[in-house]
Amino acid sequence: MENVATNIAPSATMPPVIEIEHLQKAFGSNVVLRDFNLTISSGENVVVMGKSGIGKTILIKCIIGLIKPDGGTLRVFGQDISKLNHHDLDELRTRIGFVFQSSALYDSMTVRENLEFPLRRHRRNKITGSLDELVREALRNVGLENAIDLMPSELSGGMRKRIGIARSLILKPEIVLYDEPTTGLDPITSAEITHLILEIQEKYKTTSIIITHDMELAKQTANRIVFLMDGIAWQQGTYEELSKTTDPDVKRFFKQ
Ligand SMILES: Nc1ncnc2c1ncn2[C@@H]1O[C@H](COP(=O)(O)OP(=O)(O)OP(=O)(O)O)[C@@H](O)[C@H]1O
Ligand SMILES: [Mg+2]
Repeated sequence: MENVATNIAPSATMPPVIEIEHLQKAFGSNVVLRDFNLTISSGENVVVMGKSGIGKTILIKCIIGLIKPDGGTLRVFGQDISKLNHHDLDELRTRIGFVFQSSALYDSMTVRENLEFPLRRHRRNKITGSLDELVREALRNVGLENAIDLMPSELSGGMRKRIGIARSLILKPEIVLYDEPTTGLDPITSAEITHLILEIQEKYKTTSIIITHDMELAKQTANRIVFLMDGIAWQQGTYEELSKTTDPDVKRFFKQ
């Protein structure tokens, strides 16, 4: 199959914050990322789409160093993450918010404790303002201040997603990686989460990667959409550009 991806240069005025070159990752004979290239400039919002099991989650796990690639280079804020020691990687991670596909809340902790967790872990001596105020501000941002003392089991799916987003924002990250933030939600709740992501992009000027199958979310939030297929950035462009694609695999996503 032909690689039809075109490399879109980052905006000349904004420095790249994520640079991925020739990224490779396989699990045994399962080659997930073969030669993946992507450069994202500061403030850019990139949506990554692709079939289930194609490697989208693996890609963002590589970016935060949760998974070690087999080859290629990955620079975040200009730092090659394979060359960072444990301490520096930990520091870098405080600048990146990760909204897990599963929300990944700690079931035995209240909402408040879930949100305090990254603060206690990373900000030990750097916290300005009380933990309580930071937690309340994060909850206000996602419209769930009243949920502060609830347990995760008492939250709906949409609330869990919001709390997951609140937790990923609590350290005021410059990059936010969202893994399927609207999957499994009804259209109204999905629209609310989409609105929330737009607000976050606007308010905090974050750079983001959003993995999704939700075309409305992609349309509203993406400066650029990248289709991952066959281990490469198969096609990329704006929503407008890709909606006119002749590639049959990409076309299918626009027909949902
Ligand atoms: N820890 C692991 N060990 C072995 N194989 C793995 C591991 N994690 C993921 N894989 C495999 O890597 C491939 C890509 O998985 P990934 O989770 O990135 O898919 P995805 O594109 O995010 O799919 P979905 O849309 O369903 O979330 C799959 O074939 C999966 O089975
Ligand atoms: Mg996934």
